[in-house]
Amino acid sequence: MLSKSRYFNLFVTNQEVHPMSSNLHRIAYASLSTFKPFESNTGVDVNIAQILQIARQNNQKNRLVGALYYGSGCFFQCLEGKKQDIDALYAKLLKDPRHKDLKILVSESIETVGFSSWEMKFAAIDHEVRQLLRQHQLSKFDPFQFSAEMSHQLIGMLQRADEALTEKQVDQAVINVAKKQISYYTLASTASLIIAIVLGWYLMKQVNIGL
Ligand SMILES: Cc1cc2nc3c(=O)[nH]c(=O)nc-3n(C[C@H](O)[C@H](O)[C@H](O)COP(=O)(O)O)c2cc1C
Repeated sequence: MLSKSRYFNLFVTNQEVHPMSSNLHRIAYASLSTFKPFESNTGVDVNIAQILQIARQNNQKNRLVGALYYGSGCFFQCLEGKKQDIDALYAKLLKDPRHKDLKILVSESIETVGFSSWEMKFAAIDHEVRQLLRQHQLSKFDPFQFSAEMSHQLIGMLQRADEALTEKQVDQAVINVAKKQISYYTLASTASLIIAIVLGWYLMKQVNIGL
């Protein structure tokens, strides 16, 4: 994670808007996840952990910040940075098979970034989101139905929220799944080898009997 001061300095110096801050933009979009939930033994959904891992690495390089919320199979993501960097990422997001039906809810110029120290914050704010839904007479999290006002309310909640998944937790979830996959692979190849040996031995025996 970038330190708050380091990232903040990219945009604002001594309360004056730095030249870098011109062309700053924010988008928020909704999308539908395409994967089945898959929790690792750390209690973290592996798909989310993998998305956060790549997002945090790339966004740091591309000087993008933002937050991701996931609920009822839907994503709500807010991205802030230079317009051309957001556009480049959005083009990639459109092609990512882990979600579909992307719908832009907010697209606006901003003076300063609201997620100054987060390459991609993941917020566990289910309780607050339920309150927001109640306020707007919605029974489930369906960001496709969100008005611009609701989207801005959620962005504000994400800005105030604490980080729910640290870099360490994300890495651990991804490593655990990789380990599990390796052990399944080892088990499957050992079993195939044993079957091949037994089959080979049996065939040899049959051939010897026939001779
Ligand atoms: C819901 C969702 C959010 C994502 N957020 C980001 C993001 O903030 N930054 C990013 O670089 N990639 C993000 N990704 C991943 C991109 O779609 C894409 O896989 C990735 O940027 C490819 O990186 P590469 O070009 O380095 O291989 C996200 C994917 C999903 C499904």
